[in-house]
Amino acid sequence: MSKSGSNHTVTMTDNVTGKTATFPVIHGTAGAPVLDIRTFNKEMGLFTYDPGYTATGSCQSKITFIDGDEGILQYRGYPIEQLAEQSDYMEVCYLLLFGELPSKAEKEKFVYDVSHHTMVHDQINNFFRGFRRDAHPMAVMCGAVGGLAAFYHDSLDIENPWHRTVASYRLIAKLPTIAAMAYKYTVGQPFIYPRNNMGYAENFLHMCFATPAEDYKVDPVVAKALDTIFTLHADHEQNASASTVRLAGSTGANPYACIAAGIAALWGPSHGGANEQVLNMLEEIGTVDKVHDMVKRAKDPDDSFRLFGFGHRVYKNHDPRATVIAKAAHEVLEALGVHDPLLEVAVALEKIALEDEYFIKRRLYPNVDFYSGFILKAMGFPVSMFTALFAIGRTVGWIAQWNELIEDPEQKINRPRQLYTGAAARDFVPLDKR
Ligand code: CMC
Repeated sequence: MSKSGSNHTVTMTDNVTGKTATFPVIHGTAGAPVLDIRTFNKEMGLFTYDPGYTATGSCQSKITFIDGDEGILQYRGYPIEQLAEQSDYMEVCYLLLFGELPSKAEKEKFVYDVSHHTMVHDQINNFFRGFRRDAHPMAVMCGAVGGLAAFYHDSLDIENPWHRTVASYRLIAKLPTIAAMAYKYTVGQPFIYPRNNMGYAENFLHMCFATPAEDYKVDPVVAKALDTIFTLHADHEQNASASTVRLAGSTGANPYACIAAGIAALWGPSHGGANEQVLNMLEEIGTVDKVHDMVKRAKDPDDSFRLFGFGHRVYKNHDPRATVIAKAAHEVLEALGVHDPLLEVAVALEKIALEDEYFIKRRLYPNVDFYSGFILKAMGFPVSMFTALFAIGRTVGWIAQWNELIEDPEQKINRPRQLYTGAAARDFVPLDKR
């Protein structure tokens, strides 16, 4: 970060009070520079107003870079396409957490350390049994992940780097275990314990689909595709759930509580919950001839319906994750010999929307959620598990963002201000006088 060596500043004048102040512009490594308004209220007597934070940078970060106009996503400088093609999820986790790709020895140690935290305290099995069988997996995950703080008292001191490391490894390792347990619980099958000799995605598939009654062999095509999906979802800079994790973390809350907050934010249909809604929407459309009606609904200003899996706050050209995932969806379905008629509906919907003036004008393109569901469905996951899978992949990103926040000397408790538009001050009226 530099204060631009040159004298890049912005001067503002309030035309009512006449107050004038000059603010520095800070340049990062890439992307738009930011205006440093930390002294804005002190100097101008005003607050800024930016609902949805469309123009606000909340922190400085070295983890992930997105250029929405160019469709670029990089983790620690490495393009997502190269990581998806040439790396694997464990390596990407190491990269996000520590800033560099691991050596062979570092990778082996990291995989060993993470995989030896996969089991959950046995008492957590009982904790699970309190949920209804038809509970949504994300509801269970919010509760169970937050509940980890009740079991791992030796990793709650956020000022202690060792505690933070242990908590980070535990969360990356236990999220698949908890998600698989949530799935097994809803289908009424016994929990399957993790296998530490398996890869990260492979172990998760095993915990979901093995039963004590017969052997289950994980298909390497499926394990590879799931590993890629985790890689594509691993981080996405200051999105809603990462910002939620940072906000919770800024209060000094413990890491398990912060990640549970991230899971809750991810669940919304505008964010990670969209992958579930895409499949529901395509099922509702049903056949290619009905696609036009759905597009018409999405364009209707009097209808709140939106095309799930389309649009993004940052990407205004294309979502590079969607490009990788669309290709993988076709490949995986072919390799597994799965014919999903909804894929034809999705392709038709994408084509019609991309040629439509409404979508072109607003620069709305398919996002990562548009095609990921097809792969997950072909793997055998029910639609209700889709967002839980997103949460597994994103956990490392949340943790990296949380660690960065704790180590950032400029961070303070996140506490936005408001424009108050409620009643002016008035005197209390006793009940018998109202
Ligand atoms: N279908 C129809 N119209 C849309 C859509 C859509 N999916 N997305 C945006 N628009 C319209 C919106 O109505 C608005 O039109 P107008 O200017 O006439 O009012 C315009 O495009 C700009 O939309 P916005 O709401 O100001 O954009 P935003 O940056 O606040 O919202 C979004 C981004 C992702 C929440 C939104 O595009 C959306 O709701 N998409 C569907 C849900 C979805 O797929 N979410 C997953 C996002 S990617 C994965 C992740 O990060 O979790």
